[in-house]
Amino acid sequence: MNISAPLLEKKHFPVMLDEVINICNPSKKNQLIIDCTFGGGGYTKELLKFPNIKVIALDRDKSAIERAEVIRAKFTNQFIFYNEKFSNLDKIINTEKKPDVIIFDLGLSTFQLQDYSRGFSFNATDKIDMQMGLSDISAEEVINKLNEKDLRLILKILGEEQEANRIVKNIIKARQVKKIDTVIELVKIIELSKKKNYKQKINVCTKTFQALRIFVNKETTELIKGLIEATQLIKYGGKIIIISFHSIEDKIIKYYFTNYSSNKSNPSRYMPSQNNLKNSFFEKYKNNLLTPSPEELIKNPASRSGKLRYATRTEQPFDEPREFKEKFKKYLDIENVQI
Ligand SMILES: C[S@@+](CC[C@H](N)C(=O)[O-])C[C@H]1O[C@@H](n2cnc3c(N)ncnc32)[C@H](O)[C@@H]1O
Repeated sequence: MNISAPLLEKKHFPVMLDEVINICNPSKKNQLIIDCTFGGGGYTKELLKFPNIKVIALDRDKSAIERAEVIRAKFTNQFIFYNEKFSNLDKIINTEKKPDVIIFDLGLSTFQLQDYSRGFSFNATDKIDMQMGLSDISAEEVINKLNEKDLRLILKILGEEQEANRIVKNIIKARQVKKIDTVIELVKIIELSKKKNYKQKINVCTKTFQALRIFVNKETTELIKGLIEATQLIKYGGKIIIISFHSIEDKIIKYYFTNYSSNKSNPSRYMPSQNNLKNSFFEKYKNNLLTPSPEELIKNPASRSGKLRYATRTEQPFDEPREFKEKFKKYLDIENVQI
């Protein structure tokens, strides 16, 4: 059994809170803001301090419902919560008013990471679950049932783990003797498989755990669909804000905002504005990247890998960005593998 502090005592520090609130500009009246990743409600609570703001929040984790209820009791007319995935934004948000801002703060909340019974942390000792919520499979099923080739691809592609071959070979060997039941067992297999590298700063298990978590929760599929849905839904002039924590996510977001914006400057003033280019869904995107301040890093070291990007919607009508999905097909394909 794990000894983890009662969950209600845990606190999630919202990453780059001031930066998010500044971009939202909540003193502007009558805004509708969608918080796609409610978590502990860090952004939502701050936004609701402005009486003219309405927030619709989503979270796939059912443990967020209780925290959202507390806020709803206080802000009945300003706040709605759905226990849903953000890939379903179009089915959930059917308000007449189009959202002014849509926020995504990707990854895990402290509540999830520190609830050792969920198996997200390599310090956990219980079962290897890793389901964020509304997920179809658990990491335990992946580890024990998936074939060697696909397991290797998951670790290589979604975890960027260079030693995937050896780790997977040892997983297969271990599960032939006995089902791999606990995080402790998995951690031991990874530690035995990895070469010693004294320069490596991250834990030897980080990449394998990242790969499994992304696969179980189909996180890149969610991200790609979420970005597309948000682009379709948001009002012209509205902003999409997104905070990510690992390189695959950031690569997808940067590519989307850069390639679907009116980035190229006009070659000649006699030519039609480049803003009329097909699929220029966003205003000029000049690598609008923010990272946590030195003060935030001291207060909340876990924010260190956070990257905030945002883009402003143009009036370009929406058109399915097929090339975007094609570009990241290898992630979509691997997450689509069935057990
Ligand atoms: C980093 S936390 C958000 C923390 C929040 N901004 C705060 O300040 O308290 C991420 C949250 O997003 C949720 N989440 C992740 N992927 C999701 C998805 N595809 N749809 C809905 N919620 C998701 C997780 O369950 C988690 O609670």
